[in-house]
Amino acid sequence: MIHLGVNIDHVSTLRQVREAREPDPVWAAAVCELSGAHNITVHLREDRRHIQDRDLEILKKTVRSRLNLEMASIPSILKIALQIKPDQVTLVPEKREELTTEGGLDVERHKNSLQTTLKKLQAVGIAAGLFIEPNLHQVEVSQEAGAQFVEFHTGNYANAATPKKQEEALKLLFRSAQLAHQYGLVVHAGHGLHYLNILPILKMPYLEEVNIGHAIVSRAIFVGLERAVKEMLALMKGKDSD
Ligand code: PXP
Repeated sequence: MIHLGVNIDHVSTLRQVREAREPDPVWAAAVCELSGAHNITVHLREDRRHIQDRDLEILKKTVRSRLNLEMASIPSILKIALQIKPDQVTLVPEKREELTTEGGLDVERHKNSLQTTLKKLQAVGIAAGLFIEPNLHQVEVSQEAGAQFVEFHTGNYANAATPKKQEEALKLLFRSAQLAHQYGLVVHAGHGLHYLNILPILKMPYLEEVNIGHAIVSRAIFVGLERAVKEMLALMKGKDSD
């Protein structure tokens, strides 16, 4: 079974717009879990634009499934991760000016620092991996850097301008997943996935986890979070949600 991680950052974004107390991502996490989500994913950004330290602290105590922290490999956030000890950390690139994570890590360029961060996280029992482009070289270097898993950036697939380009992006994802498995890396995928483009991704070889945020939280505005999560899970299981 492929696991669904729900990224609840957008719930916090809405709260931060007003610097208010609601909507609380802690409540959102509970609803997602009660609806069957296998993971709760949050990104603690250096600029704290959505998830706050308090959210992470409480989520660590309340999440009953698995807590996946997305973070940049920087000392200030690493210190927090080592204190809180989420179940899983996905290292991502982070730029202040970006609207969302814009692509995978350049593992080759930052290999030494990523390796050090991965080691520190794994030493305290956190499953730690890298968010990368579906690219054979990135897979190879991720394995050398000591990642336990890779999350493949599905943005090129999701944003492809033509069906042909989408098909090419999918093929690259499949080939990269195959290689990742050969190297002993667990395969995750995420970014830009939604109710209409998820099905082909589920055929990715060895895929164990997808992380979806924007599509689920957007749908939740109209149908409620419980139904939004259940509908995605139903698609993933090949069934209707009711
Ligand atoms: N995976 C990673 C590493 C991400 O940074 C994000 C966005 O925060 C997601 C998955 C979820 O992407 P989306 O919000 O487009 O579903």
